[in-house]
Amino acid sequence: MHKTRELEVHGHTVLVEVDPEPGREGRAALWPTVGEYPIYDGFLYSTMTTDHERNQRFLAALAKLAPGRRVLDIGTGEDLLWARESVQAGARTAVAVEVIADAFHTAAGTLETLDERDMITLLHGESTALQFAPRADICVAEIIGSLAGAEGAAAVLTDARDRHLAPGGLVVPHRAVTLAAPVHLPGLLPGQPVAFAEEALPYLQHIFDWHGSPFDIRLRIENPNTDALLCEGRPVEVLDFNGDLRTQQRTTTRLAITRAGHVDGVLTWLNLWCLPDEEPLDALRMKTNWASIYFPLFDQPVPVAPGDVLELTIETALSDDGIHPDYHLSATLRTTGGQEHHASLTSPHHGGPFRADPLYQALFPTA
Ligand SMILES: C[S@@+](CC[C@H](N)C(=O)[O-])C[C@H]1O[C@@H](n2cnc3c(N)ncnc32)[C@H](O)[C@@H]1O
Repeated sequence: MHKTRELEVHGHTVLVEVDPEPGREGRAALWPTVGEYPIYDGFLYSTMTTDHERNQRFLAALAKLAPGRRVLDIGTGEDLLWARESVQAGARTAVAVEVIADAFHTAAGTLETLDERDMITLLHGESTALQFAPRADICVAEIIGSLAGAEGAAAVLTDARDRHLAPGGLVVPHRAVTLAAPVHLPGLLPGQPVAFAEEALPYLQHIFDWHGSPFDIRLRIENPNTDALLCEGRPVEVLDFNGDLRTQQRTTTRLAITRAGHVDGVLTWLNLWCLPDEEPLDALRMKTNWASIYFPLFDQPVPVAPGDVLELTIETALSDDGIHPDYHLSATLRTTGGQEHHASLTSPHHGGPFRADPLYQALFPTA
C-alpha cells in the first residue's frame, strides 16, 4: 500500500513516500538524519535526556574528571545538561555554549532558576567563533552523530583543543567510531515498505527549509532488523578526541561476508567511549537515541555468498561550512565466482543532487 505526503519547500512541492502504518515501540522506522542540522526541538532533546545508555557514560566520566575543574560544555542544548551535571559532580565552574537561539533562550530561563546559577556561565553562539578565558580543564561536548563525525565533532573539538582547553586538558567523550556492514535495505525493514515514518516529516520539512531546497538526505534507520547484516561491522571512521584527531580521514576496510543474501548498500552505526576503559555504547545493539545510517551503493541488489568480500572506502572531508563533513563511499564487491561490482556514493552534509538514484526517486516520487 502506498501513501504520499506533500511538502512545500520554498514554493516547490516535494512528494514524499510515507509508511502507512503508524510507528510503535520497537518497529523499524526510516527517518532523515537530524543531528547535524540546527533543527533541534523539545522532542529531540528529550530523546537525549532520557537516553540511559548515553547518560550513564557521560555521568561516569564527569564524576571522575570534573571535580575541582573548569568545565566547558559545548552544545549544552536547552537543558544545560552537562554544565549542570559537571557542577553537581564538583566542578569549580562551567561555561555552557549553545548555537541554536531557541535552545539558548530556554536554557537561559532554566539557568535563572538553578541553585548553581552563579557557577554556570551560558553563552550563545558557535564555540568555533567564541573566545573563552580562562581556558577549561575539561571539555564535554555531546556533538556526536549516528554517523560519528557528522555533527562536526572533529572540527569543533580540534578548535576546542587548540583554543579553549588548558594544556593537559581532556575531552569527553574520549572516542567515537563508525562501524559498517553490508546489507540489503528491505531486510532492515522486514514486512515494511521503504518509506519515511510519518512522524519524521516535520523534520524533513525543517531540514529542506533550512537548506532552501530538497537534497538526497542521509537515511536514518531506527530499530533495524540486525539479522540483515551480512557480516560483523568494522570501523570506517575513528575520532580520537584525546589523541590524533583528524578533520579529514580515509579508511578502507574489508568486509568478508559470512552469510548468503543480497547487498545493495551498507549500514553504519556508532560505538562511543566516554572514558577509555569502559564498555562502549553500541548504537546498533543498545537502546539509545542514536540510530543507524543506511547508504545505498548498488542500484540492483547483488546476490552474495559466504567468502565474497565488499572492500569499502569511506573518506570524510569538511563541507563548505568548514565544520560538518561530507562523506564519500567507494566499494568493490568481489564474489568467489570471480565477479567484481563497483559502486560509489557522495553524501554531502547539505546540498548535492536530489533524486539522484532509484532509492531516492522512490522515496520522493513525481506526480
Ligand atoms: C546532540 S545535542 C546535545 C544536547 C545536550 N548537550 C545533551 O547532551 O543532551 C547537540 C547540541 O549541540 C549544539 N551545538 C553543536 N555544535 C555546536 C558548537 N560548535 N557550538 C555551540 N553549540 C553547538 C547543537 O545546536 C545542539 O543543541
